[in-house]
Amino acid sequence: MKKKILVVSSANMDFVMRVGEIPTAGRSMIESRTYRYVPGGKGANSALAFSRLGADCVFCTRLGQDANGEVLKSLYDGAGIDTRYIVNDKDYPTGLAVIMVEDEGANRIIVYPGANEAVCRADVEAALDCNPDAVFMQFEIGERAILDAAAMAAERSIPVFVDAGPARADFPLAAMAGMTVLSPNESETEIFTGIKPDTEEHCIAAAQKLAAMGNAKYIVIKLGGRGAFVWDTVSARGELIPSYAAEVVDTTAAGDAFTAALTLEYLRSGNMFRAVRYGNAVGSITVSRAGASTSIPCASEVDAFLAERGIVL
Ligand code: ATP
Ligand code: RIB
Repeated sequence: MKKKILVVSSANMDFVMRVGEIPTAGRSMIESRTYRYVPGGKGANSALAFSRLGADCVFCTRLGQDANGEVLKSLYDGAGIDTRYIVNDKDYPTGLAVIMVEDEGANRIIVYPGANEAVCRADVEAALDCNPDAVFMQFEIGERAILDAAAMAAERSIPVFVDAGPARADFPLAAMAGMTVLSPNESETEIFTGIKPDTEEHCIAAAQKLAAMGNAKYIVIKLGGRGAFVWDTVSARGELIPSYAAEVVDTTAAGDAFTAALTLEYLRSGNMFRAVRYGNAVGSITVSRAGASTSIPCASEVDAFLAERGIVL
């Protein structure tokens, strides 16, 4: 049976420019390569990943009553996402992200949250009626809604998977009762723990600190081209699972797709190490393509990727 995932998170329209150089303060620069509007937002990217990878995905978010909101909603509907619990907010515009992508594919992102900030307890309570197998969240909506969603999921014994981006140093991780997975990237790990996960020893130290702060069963630190470090807090065992080589075009949404993929594969197999390898395959494909929602593969593309490389999960 298909797994049903409730994504309680953000939706944005991304305004994307490719840049050769990031201007310093006070400098203005002409960059005459193309710009694009691409559907994005951490929650939406993950919701699309769940749907494309074979889950039933229910998306709880807020969009503005504007043209961007209409474009995003029809994209989700077309992808088979259950959009019944998306609220069209009358007070705020749809979230917008300004993204600069450098030549080697690295990005810099500033998010105007708009309607994402208005997601609230009542929205989540309504969406929980769908009886999901798991609740998946990021930190791109308001803190109160995230904490309420975690508490309501715990009351209903629904496992919670958290992609810890964007990081807020003062986020009360301790109030997130009973996470199955907490997954930050390198910079988010450093913001939460003060430890740069640049060696295996530092990954262990950071994972132990995150486990103590957040009471999660697994900590999975996303390490970009190095892969991901998974720490099992019950057995106190960790492993660095290397990425699969990719020609990097644009890393946007790699983390969102990775964490969605590992969540789904963990729910299917119950094996976190296998789930991280599946996440690495999805992340590797995502970085080899441009944009956010545009770069996320479907299940058959991941299967072909694994088969071509002779990878057994
Ligand atoms: P984002 O750019 O979306 O913010 P992130 O910083 O949250 O991403 P990353 O650690 O950059 O997350 O990437 C997530 C996963 O994608 C990695 O764990 C890895 O599996 C894959 N990945 C990222 N960069 C590369 C790369 N250069 N080569 C191969 N795989 C990669
Ligand atoms: O993780 C990538 C996403 O972060 C982008 O799509 C952008 O909208 C921001 O939310």
